[in-house]
Amino acid sequence: MKEAISARRVRELVGELPAGPAYSGLADRLTLLIGDRRIPLNVRLPSERALAAALGLSRTTVTRAYDTLRDNGYAHAAQGSGTFTAVPGGHERAHDRVLVAGGAGDDWIDLGCAADSAPAEVMAAYAAALADLPAYLGRHGYFPSGLPVLQEAIAAGYAARGLPTDPGQIVITPGALTAAGVVVRALARHPGRVLLESPTYPNASEMLRASGLQLHECPLDGNGWDIAGIADTLARVRPDFVYLIPDFQNPTGAVMPAAQRRQLAQALRSHGTRAIVDETHHALALDGQAMPPPFAVFDPEAVTLGSMSKTHWGGLRIGWIRAPRTLVGTLVQARMSLDLGVPVVEQLAAAHLLRLGPVPPRQIERLRTQRDALIGLVKTHLPSWRFNPPAGGLTLWCELPHRGAAALAAAVAASRVALTPGPVFSPGGGLDTFVRLPWTRPEAELRDAVERIAAAWHRLEADGQQTGVSRTRARAVF
Ligand SMILES: Cc1ncc(COP(=O)(O)O)c(C=O)c1O
Repeated sequence: MKEAISARRVRELVGELPAGPAYSGLADRLTLLIGDRRIPLNVRLPSERALAAALGLSRTTVTRAYDTLRDNGYAHAAQGSGTFTAVPGGHERAHDRVLVAGGAGDDWIDLGCAADSAPAEVMAAYAAALADLPAYLGRHGYFPSGLPVLQEAIAAGYAARGLPTDPGQIVITPGALTAAGVVVRALARHPGRVLLESPTYPNASEMLRASGLQLHECPLDGNGWDIAGIADTLARVRPDFVYLIPDFQNPTGAVMPAAQRRQLAQALRSHGTRAIVDETHHALALDGQAMPPPFAVFDPEAVTLGSMSKTHWGGLRIGWIRAPRTLVGTLVQARMSLDLGVPVVEQLAAAHLLRLGPVPPRQIERLRTQRDALIGLVKTHLPSWRFNPPAGGLTLWCELPHRGAAALAAAVAASRVALTPGPVFSPGGGLDTFVRLPWTRPEAELRDAVERIAAAWHRLEADGQQTGVSRTRARAVF
């Protein structure tokens, strides 16, 4: 039997309608809610009469809104049984199969990917971007270092964080991962060495390895970074680069305190090692706390990477490099051997979004609620798992009482939950006692997922399958 959503729940989710015609405002809200699955797919929407009563609107208004949804592929009518949610082109089209273990199905819960759905502001920013576009159509449209309005908005963000930045120091890229790739393309010598945290963001370690660099690890644990240990490794290995994620590190959620940033910057300076600092998560402070100053405040030679994928939406594909002035020419030259810039509409939309602030406030509220829900669920259903509750970011890094993370990921895949085990985050192997759980899905999905994970975990425990597979590699994990 298909599920239904009540008029009261739809009213809660829709909230206050924007100014303008009520039917189009309602259709826009429902489109977003269905698009990001807060209203799941194949669910029966309330009858027009019930929703009109719940929202205090006329029945004609709701009828027109449902007509719009149907015309745009976000709903379909089933003869005699009501209106059901859908997405244009069908469910398969809305997923990238590569990112979901075993392929996307309607009943898969994707905890493999730590990226949230788009907040409402993204759609509005695209509309504003289209209105700005005509001013750019009369020229060639290539901006290899970035659209000036976006460079300015990003530079203003650094200035507000205590790092004065000229817009010319910003190079816009299609995401932070590409930004890192451009930096390595421009600055690496061969053979070269890079020091990176373990655990770390796996796509970055894959990119660094594929660039021909030799990888060296510095361990990161619940207490964060061991700066004295890193300084010893710098002296011993003499790496060209260190790749750091000091703000809500992926996957641990750790934040490097200001004093450690200062000490590490000093050590890097004395060994001539350049920091590549990935700040993808810095704006995701969920408890209203102030963040330490950017790493480049302490290390002016650092190259900083930024992204809107985690604060706004991965589909924007907007990231950037903030570099010392002397490096900008080399970086732009290197990027031009790869691509010639980022689409203008996306850059315009990004500039609109950043002028509203580093992250939409409702996005922070939503992530905070989901984080708290996930923490509660893990404590209840998996009491033997240990974690440090992160004050921000997107993920809970859970330590299991014994090895078996890879075996668990395989077991929960059979229950249609995609999960990323610790070894994926370890550049050199190991970490099979860890699992990363993102809180980027709605609360109901998190509950369902944790219950399925707990069932699989308890089954594995009962079977005594504790050894697991020592190493699995996922192609794409966010
Ligand atoms: C630390 C870190 N850097 C970069 C990225 C990728 O960002 P983008 O989508 O901007 O390439 C991610 C995505 O998970 C990440 O966690």
